[in-house]
Amino acid sequence: MLNNAKNQHDSIRAVEWKNDHLILLDQRKLPQNEQYIEFYNAEDVAEAIRNMVVRGAPAIGIAAAYALVLAARKSYKQYPNDWRNRLEVEKEILANARPTAVNLSWALKRMCDALVGIEGDPIPTLLELAKTIHSEDIAANHHMGQLGAQLIGATHGLITHCNTGSLATGGYGTALGVIRSAFAEGKFERIYAGETRPWWQGSRLTAWELGKDHIPYKLVPDSAMAALMKTKPIGWVIVGADRIAANGDVANKIGTYSLAVNASFHGVKFMVVAPTSTIDLDTRTGSDIPIEERSIEEVLQVGNQRIAALGADAWNPAFDVTPADLIDVLVTEKGVIHHPNTEKIAQLMRS
Ligand code: MRU
Repeated sequence: MLNNAKNQHDSIRAVEWKNDHLILLDQRKLPQNEQYIEFYNAEDVAEAIRNMVVRGAPAIGIAAAYALVLAARKSYKQYPNDWRNRLEVEKEILANARPTAVNLSWALKRMCDALVGIEGDPIPTLLELAKTIHSEDIAANHHMGQLGAQLIGATHGLITHCNTGSLATGGYGTALGVIRSAFAEGKFERIYAGETRPWWQGSRLTAWELGKDHIPYKLVPDSAMAALMKTKPIGWVIVGADRIAANGDVANKIGTYSLAVNASFHGVKFMVVAPTSTIDLDTRTGSDIPIEERSIEEVLQVGNQRIAALGADAWNPAFDVTPADLIDVLVTEKGVIHHPNTEKIAQLMRS
């Protein structure tokens, strides 16, 4: 736990800049071990993004912004007259670390746009911008928390998926931020958190965060969600996003689409919570979003334990796309959109 916590429900920081380096909480080790890793160069951060040391769309973007500071420091030291061009390689390595979360390329673009006017040592300017990207994300999450919580009436249960909390963002969380704010307002009795195979972000990370905040929850196998919606009074499904296309289609953790279909069938409302840095106007529809496929070993084994039959093959898409038609509300820091579509999203992004 780091010391820039803002309040009781915002006490976890997975990404932090300290003196001259980046610190990441190793999310692969949670909840058993709370271990932090120090990073002094950008290639190692790219590797950490690929390997899920840091994960969650906004957190990946913030880590990449700080990594660009590390890359610029190296580049400026080695090639004081040509540091901008030399930076390009490391920027590309970072940008390609994970393909679906658009916050990664969004943060890198914002950092690189700032390079243009810099004369002399680029580090102070870049570090300040990376810190701004980080603090703006936290502020956006708190604001979205309030906006989303206002939409929730008193209910027994809310469903969430994957981990969208402090660990997945600069702090506080997107969907989990709304859940934190709604809990503070006494809006629900219990969170039902999907386990989120194969990386178990629900069981390992969301349960860890909810436990720290004393928010009552039950873990639910991903395959039990339809039964849960049929048998318990559930007010909303609340999820985050890795990329939102211009027409409002949403890429998020695999299993989100199933939740949206089930929610629609059972009359449960479906909320997506994401900062506008997750909206990609250059991606027209969900079919244009690149979906990361990860190693099949993640499906065939649990941790280091082989589960599947010898010789078994597998399919392991990390994300799926929920069509805009299935989304009741999109909550962003710029405001709330009911039944998102191309026109409403364009208008929001202009505002
Ligand atoms: O593979 P992950 O753990 O990076 O996937 C994370 C998600 O799908 C989250 O729901 C999304 O990034 C939003 S996090 C605020």
